[in-house]
Amino acid sequence: MTALAKKYLTAEVLGKLAQVRAECGFGIEDIVRSGVDNPDSSIGAYAGDEDCYGKFAPLFDPIINDYHGYAADASHHSNFDINSLMNMEDMDPSGEVIISTRIRVARNIKGFPFPPALSTDDRAVIEEKVVAALNNLQGELSGTYYPLVEMREETRIQLTEDHFLFKKGDRFLESAGVNGDWPASRGIFHSDDKQFLVWVNEEDELRIISMQPGGDLKQVFVRLAQAIAAIESEITFAYNDHLGYLTSCPTNLGTAMRASVHVKLPLLGKTQQFQQTCATLGLSVRGIHGEHSESEGGVYDISNKQRLGISEVECIKRLYAGIKDLLAKERQLGTI
Ligand code: ARG
Repeated sequence: MTALAKKYLTAEVLGKLAQVRAECGFGIEDIVRSGVDNPDSSIGAYAGDEDCYGKFAPLFDPIINDYHGYAADASHHSNFDINSLMNMEDMDPSGEVIISTRIRVARNIKGFPFPPALSTDDRAVIEEKVVAALNNLQGELSGTYYPLVEMREETRIQLTEDHFLFKKGDRFLESAGVNGDWPASRGIFHSDDKQFLVWVNEEDELRIISMQPGGDLKQVFVRLAQAIAAIESEITFAYNDHLGYLTSCPTNLGTAMRASVHVKLPLLGKTQQFQQTCATLGLSVRGIHGEHSESEGGVYDISNKQRLGISEVECIKRLYAGIKDLLAKERQLGTI
């Protein structure tokens, strides 16, 4: 097992944490269960609530520092100010190279445990609260909530075709406890124009998503920022000044933001140094069918790697600069 949880759960740290319990009831065995069950995990630890990050800091702090390069006494600052993105142009005015742009943030609700530690009742209360807030959204954000339970067949087919439907959590989430009572109290909200989407009670209680075809990153961000502000006026999210927005997986802390594009890089993608080039630009690469998938037809899912200790607008600026750089490199190789 190469997981960071294994690397940092030394005998000494285990000795310190063996008897510790967080408010949600989690002990060290609950936190690392996913990594123990899945030796190919890259992280292998999940938090059951905010208290886990504090009480189990001897494990989480080094994991967070290793993944995010973020010190245990650093502070995080959120910034959604779109004025600093004023000069950002469409990354692909031709509409031929960037297939789509998507930004998501993860959120959990203050006062509740996170999905790995949620009770059946809490999960139902959360669904109710979130749906009430979503039903108040106005204008282009207004839409419909589709619970997974008793979903009509035609809705299921439509959401699958739109690639909106989320599946039951994989083996990593299963071991983490995120799939409890599946599919009860889970569902998907989308706006009428299908550019704004919320997943309820998946890996985090909310996954708020803005997406559209093409490469207009600023427009996707502006929609997301408006949606988050509207939801946040009714629901208080779990947040602290050290770790930012709190998520069940330590990779998502901080902005909890993953901004990504599906982009055609048929030549650059084949080069040996592609992964390294992306890493140097602060970008992560995935296949186009989500985490742990392969590329198809030279199309890659490229996103910001860093999320903690930098602001939301900074995540967006880095993705923008990185994608422009990759497109220039692809152009040099001759396809576009
Ligand atoms: N727990 C898995 C691992 O350690 C996933 C980590 C990041 N992905 C995520 N969806 N949170 O490899």
